Amino acid sequence: MLLKSSVLSFLLFFKFSFEKEITNIITDFVKQERSPTKITAYVCWPASITLGLLKELSANCYYSQARSVKSELQYPQIEEHHMFLLDAACEGSKNIFLQALELNLFNQPFRWLIWGTSNNSIFDNVYLGVDSKVYVIRKNDLHYEIISVYKYAENYTAFVENHVAIWTTSQGFLHFNEVSTPKNRTDLMGTALRIAYVVTNNDTLNHLWDYRYREIDSMSKVNWIVVHRLLEFVNATSIQTFRNTWGYRNATTHQYTGIIGDMQRGDAELGGSSFFFTIDRIGIVDYIATTTQSYMKFIFRAPPLTYVTNVFTLPFDTYVWYCSFALVGIVLVVLYGIVMWEWKDPVFKEKIKNLQSLRPNILDVFLFEIGAVTQQGVDAEPRSSAGRIATIFTFLALMFLYTSYSANIVALLQSTTDSIRTLEDLLVSRIALGVEDIVYAHYYFENAQEPIRKTIYEQKIAPKGQKPNFMTALEGIKRVQQGSFAFHIELSTGYKLVNEIFQENEKCSLKEIEYINLIPPWLAVRKNSTYKEIFKVGLKKIHEAGIQHRENSKIYTKRPVCHTKGSNFGSVGLIDCYAAFLIFGIGLGCSVILMILEKLVKIYHDNKLHQNIVVMAAQNKFFEDEFICK
Ligand SMILES: *[C@@H]1O[C@H](CO)[C@@H](O)[C@H](O)[C@H]1NC(C)=O
Ligand SMILES: *[C@@H]1O[C@H](CO)[C@@H](O)[C@H](O)[C@H]1NC(C)=O
Ligand SMILES: *[C@@H]1O[C@H](CO)[C@@H](O)[C@H](O)[C@H]1NC(C)=O
Ligand SMILES: *[C@@H]1O[C@H](CO)[C@@H](O)[C@H](O)[C@H]1NC(C)=O
Ligand SMILES: *[C@@H]1O[C@H](CO)[C@@H](O)[C@H](O)[C@H]1NC(C)=O
Ligand SMILES: *[C@@H]1O[C@H](CO)[C@@H](O)[C@H](O)[C@H]1NC(C)=O
Ligand SMILES: *[C@@H]1O[C@H](CO)[C@@H](O)[C@H](O)[C@H]1NC(C)=O
Repeated sequence: MLLKSSVLSFLLFFKFSFEKEITNIITDFVKQERSPTKITAYVCWPASITLGLLKELSANCYYSQARSVKSELQYPQIEEHHMFLLDAACEGSKNIFLQALELNLFNQPFRWLIWGTSNNSIFDNVYLGVDSKVYVIRKNDLHYEIISVYKYAENYTAFVENHVAIWTTSQGFLHFNEVSTPKNRTDLMGTALRIAYVVTNNDTLNHLWDYRYREIDSMSKVNWIVVHRLLEFVNATSIQTFRNTWGYRNATTHQYTGIIGDMQRGDAELGGSSFFFTIDRIGIVDYIATTTQSYMKFIFRAPPLTYVTNVFTLPFDTYVWYCSFALVGIVLVVLYGIVMWEWKDPVFKEKIKNLQSLRPNILDVFLFEIGAVTQQGVDAEPRSSAGRIATIFTFLALMFLYTSYSANIVALLQSTTDSIRTLEDLLVSRIALGVEDIVYAHYYFENAQEPIRKTIYEQKIAPKGQKPNFMTALEGIKRVQQGSFAFHIELSTGYKLVNEIFQENEKCSLKEIEYINLIPPWLAVRKNSTYKEIFKVGLKKIHEAGIQHRENSKIYTKRPVCHTKGSNFGSVGLIDCYAAFLIFGIGLGCSVILMILEKLVKIYHDNKLHQNIVVMAAQNKFFEDEFICK
């Protein structure tokens, strides 16, 4: 009797303590996680244990519910804060596991706590990726051990274990190591990852490390090195695929080509070459980091200022022009007055009669002034003191004006216009356009929807019935050098060629206009990739360490610096001298017209004279006749 009751009480005690242990370890673990948690338990325990656990969790403000292991698993409507609790010993737990696998429930952000005290087949053929959070509670003789399991890659059979904690009934956690993917799981121990790269030129494969032919596939070359640093960071190896395109969507099948197609099909974990953000790609890949600073823009030499304005009027402000004309007028009046007085005074007139003295004629005074304005000197000047003072100050004042005008015009003849700033300016200007013949430029130009971009493509790049202006980089840059040509090119490639073939002063007038409005290209991983987190962290570290910057500056050519802005030399062209020729032409025209008028007047006069003579002769004859008659 005594024995019976003691056995019973022992059993009761054991049951009680087991119940308590389950409740305590789970509650302690959830508390230790220190984050809001919603627990769904799939267990087959006696109702008392399950209820006790739920009660305890609720008392600690965790939302919890219990489901039958046989029930159907559903993808939670709200993903955050979910933790699944599963008793691996239950019949049907494998089924739950397989369903979870199907629903991607082992991915971020879900957590799993598995109550499994002995080895069983639950983990067979299950892939728990690097970023999964699956904890297993194992019971040893003395204590409970919590570990976290994952696999390096899908085809690995062995699980890797992170040792998380030891828990004892009496003391709770003896220690607790938090597990975070980027902190504890970056060492992939030589796992082979599939990486797809883009090379558009086969020769690139020979120059991935040696920094030669930097202008060809620059983006791929920078990324090649950065991705290899990343592989070192995660201690992985790679299986490489090379494609010749980044990948565009087939409108009917929605399948992508190129490396994006590889990632879409799951053939590549990481895209080893960065590419641009487009809306359609966001659903296919996960962008993780930007590594290069590749930009494509139109570059062109700004046309000289003379193309757009009359530079000869620019040196002076409008008010200075008004004042200058007023000054000339005043000087004209004053000088005329002085000269009039000189020639009116009989004594003085006598004195200057034989000297080269300015005559009181408004045209003479005007010519005198023209001589002064153009700094050419005059052949006659006023002789009185008043006249001389006026002359000196006229010359002085006009000399200063002349100096500042000519100093300014020299600078203006060398300057270029700033008036082409937008795509619209480019469209309406006389500048011809060309595009570097690369895959994605074709794509962006041919698919432009925005009206101005579309018009640019239709009118200037691929006019109907003509060969489209796609050309090699060298050809385009040579045409840029000749002027009046804007070339759309990847800037680094363009500037490298510019450095090679441009004269120093030609580099100064280079301008850029953006056609494709894009943020820099990004690296991307397959959608839902389990390595996303560690790659992100790795690339951030590479960026912070300056490795990325180093590679970029070794491979990308920067915009050439204009060293000779002030002292550059450019010949003045015909179009710059247009105004000079125009004035000359007007003068010539006027004189020719005057000459013709003079001739006409002379002919008229001659005719009149002739008539007079004839008339007179006739009259004479008449007289003669009369005389003869007489
Ligand atoms: C569990 O299985 C592993 C191998 O899969 C073995 O090494 C380990 O000893 C087993 N543990 C128990 C408690 O059976
Ligand atoms: C996994 O697959 C890759 C290539 O597909 C292979 O190189 C690697 O050896 C495989 N790993 C294991 C553990 O089988
Ligand atoms: C994970 O890494 C952190 C920081 O390095 C460390 O404190 C922790 O103990 C590690 N966790 C495990 C399970 O090793
Ligand atoms: C990297 O992986 C190799 C296995 O390929 C392993 O031998 C080595 O210890 C790992 N390196 C580090 C630093 O863990
Ligand atoms: C580049 O190599 C691929 C296969 O290696 C070949 O199909 C293609 O024709 C080559 N392209 C050029 C331009 O040589
Ligand atoms: C798209 O895919 C279909 C079916 O595979 C194929 O017939 C068609 O040529 C593809 N279109 C393009 C533009 O590649
Ligand atoms: C990525 O995961 C989400 C849910 O987490 C799923 O709906 C989607 O189909 C997955 N995509 C791929 C390509 O596996």
